[in-house]
Amino acid sequence: MSVDTHVSVLLAEAVAALAIQPAGIYVDATFGRGGHSRAILDSLGAAGRLIALDRDPAAIAAGSSFTDPRFTLVHAPFSEFDAVLDKLGVAQVDGVLLDIGVSSPQLNTPERGMSFRFDAPLDMRMDTTQGETAAEFLARASQSEIERVIRDYGEERFAHAIAKALVAARGEHGISRTGQLATLVAQVVRTREPGQHPATRSFQALRIHVNRELEELSLTLPRAVERLAPGGRLAVISFHSLEDRIVKRFMRDAAHPPQPPKGVPVRAVDLPQPIVKLVGKAKFPSAAEIAANPRCRSAVLRVAQKVGPGVDGPRPEGSPLGESQDGARQKSGAAQRRTAVTPVGGRGVGGGGV
Ligand SMILES: C[S@@+](CC[C@H](N)C(=O)[O-])C[C@H]1O[C@@H](n2cnc3c(N)ncnc32)[C@H](O)[C@@H]1O
Repeated sequence: MSVDTHVSVLLAEAVAALAIQPAGIYVDATFGRGGHSRAILDSLGAAGRLIALDRDPAAIAAGSSFTDPRFTLVHAPFSEFDAVLDKLGVAQVDGVLLDIGVSSPQLNTPERGMSFRFDAPLDMRMDTTQGETAAEFLARASQSEIERVIRDYGEERFAHAIAKALVAARGEHGISRTGQLATLVAQVVRTREPGQHPATRSFQALRIHVNRELEELSLTLPRAVERLAPGGRLAVISFHSLEDRIVKRFMRDAAHPPQPPKGVPVRAVDLPQPIVKLVGKAKFPSAAEIAANPRCRSAVLRVAQKVGPGVDGPRPEGSPLGESQDGARQKSGAAQRRTAVTPVGGRGVGGGGV
């Protein structure tokens, strides 16, 4: 298999989760190599539209093979989702897919510096056009900052010892190569789960930090739901527990917003309203998918649907009226959904903008 190939995870499940309407507008916020985008386009009709984003210039370059006029590809982090849609003149969308984490080409291309399997410059940025590399971070950060990153994002119990060793070793020339980092970490981490490289957790932690992965996710989930038309779907595939925790809590709180304590006199109309309902249970790859693509073994897909007129949400706990409050603060999205749509050319590929 070529270094530039990515096998899409939970492909059929994710596309089914979007419940695609032929004339709908969809966002694939993590284009990668376009596996999910291709399947979404296959389900869309002639009047449908797909807007895809990726922050990795290599993903954008790979997208140049997509010549479908219904498709627009934008080089941007998904936290800029709102600005991208505004610039394209799109007010509301019918579905958003986030397949977060890294692509196989990012992991398999040595120069990306994301893997301890190759000796290469310690970069780790998904967007190679901007931001601090992992080497730059390790050169300037304090020991306690490095420790916090490795502990919080790698859930690494040897974070203190690793940070101490890295600061002692960085000297004048810093830690500039993946091989150097992997060796330093392996000297400190002497016990590890079977089959796992001692530097796995440290590499994951630095990559999450350099790319602000958890912040990107936390910022984008509410923005995506805000832009959904009533009935629109948000589908998120995550790959480790830190990401999944954020997705799960966000969807739970959006479906069941915390209510004031019982007995507090609040009018039903003033109670926090659900903005989504949860769709089904979390989905995991089948044994066959894991056998064919072991990298997907930790994937989980969660789906929520925007509530609004004609789309029932869960009853808010403690609602004195005992009825769903859905849509109480929502305008009819269906009516306004297309009003701001301006036709744009096939794709908007470029340096950080639309
Ligand atoms: C798992 S891959 C997606 C694979 C894709 N679904 C496919 O089928 O080919 C994740 C992609 O999301 C991109 N990505 C991760 N975080 C991002 C962010 N905050 N903004 C934009 N793109 C992001 C990565 O650059 C990578 O290309």
